[in-house]
Amino acid sequence: MIDRVLRDALFLLESERSHDTALQLLAVAGATEAGRAALRTMYGPRTQRPVSLMGLTFPNAVGLAAGYDKGARAWAGLATLGFGHVEIGTVTPKPQPGNPRPRVFRLTEQACLINRLGFPSEGADVVHRRLGPARPYGTVLGVNIGKNKDTPLEEAASDYTALVHAFADVADYLTVNVSSPNTPGLRKLQTGAALTALLTAVVAARDACTERLGRRVPVTVKLAPDLDDADLDDALQAVADAAIDGVIATNTTLDRDRVHGPLAQETGGLSGAALTAKATDVCRRIRARAGDALPLIGVGGIMTPDDAQARLDAGADLVQLYTGVVFGGPGLVRQTVERLAR
Ligand SMILES: Cc1cc2nc3c(=O)[nH]c(=O)nc-3n(C[C@H](O)[C@H](O)[C@H](O)COP(=O)(O)O)c2cc1C
Repeated sequence: MIDRVLRDALFLLESERSHDTALQLLAVAGATEAGRAALRTMYGPRTQRPVSLMGLTFPNAVGLAAGYDKGARAWAGLATLGFGHVEIGTVTPKPQPGNPRPRVFRLTEQACLINRLGFPSEGADVVHRRLGPARPYGTVLGVNIGKNKDTPLEEAASDYTALVHAFADVADYLTVNVSSPNTPGLRKLQTGAALTALLTAVVAARDACTERLGRRVPVTVKLAPDLDDADLDDALQAVADAAIDGVIATNTTLDRDRVHGPLAQETGGLSGAALTAKATDVCRRIRARAGDALPLIGVGGIMTPDDAQARLDAGADLVQLYTGVVFGGPGLVRQTVERLAR
């Protein structure tokens, strides 16, 4: 009921403004022990089943996907909604504004979003200052990293390795984002020699941090749903060659086959209900190609607890939510965690 009223009120605002308002409310509520306890009472799951993956223990299988809290402003509040992991970011090394507004579009009838944010980021220093060793309710913290728009593609590896060094002390895991459609050329880093070179450099940076910190931070790579079989094989070969710890599938799609209406033609990445089938298929294809051992996090169009179960059935070890929470409200987290604990 509260979810419904809050959602309807937020939906009166322009998409990005309503998101900022929700994040602000969560930041305030999450800033104190009393606020976190209240959120936990209202939204926290009553039962959950832990998952061990990549050497980490996740309190449950349901995480918050990257992009919701790019600057780690509200991550403690988000953790107390019941997420077993929260992936903040994408963070870039230097601050950058992203694309001009409007840049997020709500296709309400179709339960989809289109965004062309283009990595607005406060930069590594500011975001790092917001993170510390505290982990409310044992939530696992992921940091999703990306390159600055003005860094040439040939120099992208230096942005990513700088971010590994910047965040290895506070992140439980790191995600290399090469799949956003909104940074020109970024997806070219997703296949072939470019991906192998990038991931090898990232793993070398991580290994240097392991020596420095005495703790090994697992690294995942996040892939697009728009890869054909040959590109997917290529990407998975690079993952194996570089000994990356896991894959997150998928980011938003450029495909517009399953949406209609004037907003459907806005430039950007599409997420939500129109992505469910495609992202599930990518999970299934990755699991079939990579075998049982590769840690796989499924994301894209998980709008209901049954969608989440279907994603695990397709081969994912964990799932992440984003657009489902925008349309379904934070109650979806508890319902999904409890469903997956059955
Ligand atoms: C407004 C918006 C911003 C996003 N920003 C990021 C981002 O910064 N980094 C990233 O890796 N993914 C980002 N994503 C992609 C999501 O993490 C997720 O992969 C995608 O939306 C598919 O999941 P969904 O259908 O449940 O939303 C963003 C998605 C949306 C809707």
